[in-house]
Amino acid sequence: MKSRKVIVVGASSGMGRELVRQLAARGDRVAAVARREDKLAELAAEHPQQILPFPHDVTQPESVPELFAEICRQLGGLDVIIYAAGVMPEVGATEYSFEKDRSMIEVNLTGAVAWLNAAADRFQNVGHGTIVGIGSVAGERGRQGQPMYNTTKAALKTYLEALRNRLSKRGIRVTTIKPGPTATEMTAHLKQTGMMGAEDAAERILRVMDSGKEKFLKPSHAIIFAIIRNIPTGVFRRLKL
Ligand SMILES: NC(=O)c1ccc[n+]([C@@H]2O[C@H](COP(=O)([O-])OP(=O)(O)OC[C@H]3O[C@@H](n4cnc5c(N)ncnc54)[C@H](OP(=O)(O)O)[C@@H]3O)[C@@H](O)[C@H]2O)c1
Repeated sequence: MKSRKVIVVGASSGMGRELVRQLAARGDRVAAVARREDKLAELAAEHPQQILPFPHDVTQPESVPELFAEICRQLGGLDVIIYAAGVMPEVGATEYSFEKDRSMIEVNLTGAVAWLNAAADRFQNVGHGTIVGIGSVAGERGRQGQPMYNTTKAALKTYLEALRNRLSKRGIRVTTIKPGPTATEMTAHLKQTGMMGAEDAAERILRVMDSGKEKFLKPSHAIIFAIIRNIPTGVFRRLKL
């Protein structure tokens, strides 16, 4: 495959970092965006010709247009953008923290809109490009444990669907990735076994990222979540999922 120019937002750990590694290993030029400069510098040192680090906090969306333009200039164009930044702070069963909820809205949703709107505008003018958003199986229902995390992922899914409906006729692919539990910094505190590895998740994302569809990373999730989506409200509430 021809070398492509890619932006990965949320590139300093987890799935985003693995995506940068695998894209660079196959010869793509990748702009790696996140807050932690030390992590980005370590990552860039693995493939200095391919990986360009750009420190940025997605809760500062007003800085996106200038940075986006500068990255496109340094990459020499843009073919793909992947928005992988996300936060999921621990939320107690009786906790209603506006600060935590706001942080999830800002990182998981507002930041995505700032970056992906910039890419959509550029791609519609040049007539090609791939937009990828990392959603989650968590966006499929309003679960009790994480009200706002679920909400941000459901909103991201709807936003990406709308972009897909706008942009597919212009030859632009918009892909929504819905991972299940994956072993990363985000889930390090959970006592859950059998999670997918971040490297495996990144490989699967790269295989489907140009599909222009919604994609679960585990084939069995397509069936499991079709059932979960159809569980009647009253039953779903009692299941405490
Ligand atoms: N792990 C799972 O089980 C799972 C399941 C489904 C979906 N997801 C989604 O997958 C995506 C990747 O998560 P992950 O599991 O790989 O988690 P992770 O290892 O915690 O990575 C999160 C990334 O987001 C970046 N980020 C967070 N806040 C940011 C900010 N204010 N500005 C810029 N970047 C920021 C982090 O970089 P800095 O801290 O350096 O800024 C980091 O690179 C997220 O959207 C997550 O919701 C995860």
